Amino acid sequence: MTAPIVKWAGGKGKLVPAILARAPQVFGTFHEPFLGGGAVFFGLCREGRLHRACLNDLNPDLVDTYRAVRDAPNLIIEELQQLSNCYLSRPHEDRAALYYQVRAAKPHVGPALAAWLLFLNKTCYNGLFRVNRRGEFNVPHGDYVNPRILDRDALLRASRCLQRAEIVSEDFGDACKRAQPGDFVYLDPPYQPLTSTANFTSYTSVEFGEDEQIRLRDEFEALTTRGAAAILSNSSHRLISDLYEGRGYSVEEVFMARAINSAGQGRSPVPELLISNLSRPEVIQAFSSSPK
Ligand SMILES: C[S@@+](CC[C@H](N)C(=O)[O-])C[C@H]1O[C@@H](n2cnc3c(N)ncnc32)[C@H](O)[C@@H]1O
Repeated sequence: MTAPIVKWAGGKGKLVPAILARAPQVFGTFHEPFLGGGAVFFGLCREGRLHRACLNDLNPDLVDTYRAVRDAPNLIIEELQQLSNCYLSRPHEDRAALYYQVRAAKPHVGPALAAWLLFLNKTCYNGLFRVNRRGEFNVPHGDYVNPRILDRDALLRASRCLQRAEIVSEDFGDACKRAQPGDFVYLDPPYQPLTSTANFTSYTSVEFGEDEQIRLRDEFEALTTRGAAAILSNSSHRLISDLYEGRGYSVEEVFMARAINSAGQGRSPVPELLISNLSRPEVIQAFSSSPK
């Protein structure tokens, strides 16, 4: 089954059915400006609903990884096979040393970087990708008994989906501007934290605060007036509902079990917001007239 190849904080695996049910049946290019693990992209690909895609994330290592998975999956498989053999053949107590050695020796680009990121993603604590202010990956060793470091078939399936994708690393504002009338955009920004202790936003060295949430709302409105269909997910926070309510969008609360929570608590379903512009007249008009 085509599915994300990285575990990602804020991954939307559980919300995919709800999002796909609300997506237009037919659209031009699919855009995902906050790609992360790409659960919605892989979901659309799995359902055969994807023709062209424009994928984006501000995290340059993640973007390089997807490009390498698209262009050279077999080289990544070779590298990961070696890392996996090396790691799994060691006695359990010696694995952390290898993990920290690999973590410190980051390759610059290409299949070696992809293998590095995928290896760390499968062996680090909680499958988290977190960087410090200098953009350096700083998650400790995960200590799993038998992690599946290489999943050859999953990589090859992902590579087939990514053949249809242009993959870039820029700010979401630039990525949104690529969308045309009749396109479909799924936006999944770093969540507005519900409590002061729940602020996991360190996917990149740049923080995502209230100003970015406001800037994103303005991009959402610009997509709407241009006739691009857009669905956005975020935490059920007052700031977010205040930004989107009263503008002719649909703003719904849906429930999803949380996957990553370092405290190991609070895994019960929490409300999320799904915001859609599909009922706005500009979008209805664009979808009834554009050729796709
Ligand atoms: C909630 S995650 C996306 C999760 C994804 N939907 C999934 O299913 O795995 C948000 C992503 O936005 C990226 N990001 C953060 N700030 C950004 C920005 N200003 N522009 C583009 N991407 C950004 C992060 O690197 C992160 O991967």
